[in-house]
Amino acid sequence: MTTILLTGGTGYIGSHTAVELIAAGYEVVIADDLSNSSKNVVDRIAQISGKKPSFYEIDVADKDDLRKVFSSHHIDAVIHFAGFKSVSESVREPLKYYRNNLDATLSLLEVMKAYGCEKIIFSSSATVYGVSVDSHKFNEEDETGNCSNPYGRTKSMIEDILSDVSKADEGFTSILLRYFNPVGAHESGLIGEEPNGIPNNLMPFITQVAAGILPKLKVFGSDYDTPDGTCIRDYIHVVDLARGHVAALEYAFVHTGCGIFNLGTGKGTSVLEMIHAFEEANGLRIPYEIAERRAGDVPFCVADPSKANDILGWKADKDIVDMCRDSWRWQQNCRNESIK
Ligand code: WQD
Repeated sequence: MTTILLTGGTGYIGSHTAVELIAAGYEVVIADDLSNSSKNVVDRIAQISGKKPSFYEIDVADKDDLRKVFSSHHIDAVIHFAGFKSVSESVREPLKYYRNNLDATLSLLEVMKAYGCEKIIFSSSATVYGVSVDSHKFNEEDETGNCSNPYGRTKSMIEDILSDVSKADEGFTSILLRYFNPVGAHESGLIGEEPNGIPNNLMPFITQVAAGILPKLKVFGSDYDTPDGTCIRDYIHVVDLARGHVAALEYAFVHTGCGIFNLGTGKGTSVLEMIHAFEEANGLRIPYEIAERRAGDVPFCVADPSKANDILGWKADKDIVDMCRDSWRWQQNCRNESIK
C-alpha cells in the first residue's frame, strides 16, 4: 500500500488531508510535535475514516527522530505541513520562525534523500504573492518573495529550496501548493481549526463571537478600495483544500521537477459579506464594530485557480454557506468538550 507521511498532520489542514488520503486508499503516517494541536486528533481521524494513522510525536527538525519514522515505514511521499504559521507572531519573533520552519524542512529533505524518498508536497501560502494591483487574481507566474512578514518569507524561502532541490536532482518532485484562505471543517464536526488562545483569523473569530466566547467582532478597516470598503479574500473550504492535496499527490507520482499550484476558488468575499453569509447560513447575529485597519492587511487576495483545475483536475466545489455551516457545527462541538 502506498504510504504518505504527513508532517504536522494533527493540525487543521493536515488532519483533513489525512481523512481524504485514507478515503483515497493511502496508508497515512503522521509526525507532529503537538505544539499547535492535540494528539486526540489522531483518534478523531480514525473515528471519521475507520482507519487509525501511525503517529509519532517528534520534532520534525530532529533528524534522529525522523529516521525513526523512515526506518519503520516505507514512505512513498511526504506532505509537509509542519511549521509555525502566525503572521503576527512571526513579526514579533522572526528568529523562532526562521529556525523552526527552515530547520524542519532541511532536516526532512536530508532524511528523505537518505531513504530514497523523492516526492514532497509543500504547504505554501498565497502570502508569498505581493500586493494585488487593480483586483488582479493571482496566478502562479506572478512575482513572489515580496512578502510583508517573516512567516511569508519562510514560505517563499522553502519554495526556493524545493525548487533548487528538484533542479539538482532530476528524479525529485516538489509540488508547491499555495493556499488562499482555508475555512470550515469536516461535516462530522470532529475535526476543525483549534486556534490556541485568541484567534487571528476571521472565521474562528466569527464563530467564537457567535458562541458568546468573545463579545464582538472587530472589522479591521472599512475604507479600503473595495465595493463595501472591507478586504476581499478567497475563502476555500478546508475539505476542498484537502482534496487538492490528493490530486497533487497523484500528479507527483507521475511527474518530476517542481510544480506550483494555487488552491483557491477564484471567488472573492469581503469581510462584511462573510459576516452576513454566516448570519444567514446559521440564523445568528454577529455583533461587530468597524475598527482601525490591521497592519499588513492587503485589500484584495483572490486566486486564479485555473492551473490546478486544468492540470490537477481539481476544483473547489463547496460554497460560502457550506463553510459557514461547517465552521459553526465545529465550534458548537468544541464547546461541548465532547471531543477534547
Ligand atoms: C481575513 C480578513 C482581516 C479577523 C492569513 C495569513 C495567510 C493564511 C490565512 C496561512 C482580513 C479581516 C480578520 C478579525 C477582521 N494563513 N479580519 N477581523 O490575513 O487574509 O491571511 O490567514 O497560510 O497566510 O496571512 O486571513 O482571516 O486573518 O483575515 O476584520 O477579527 O478578515 O483584516 O481582511 P488573512 P485573516
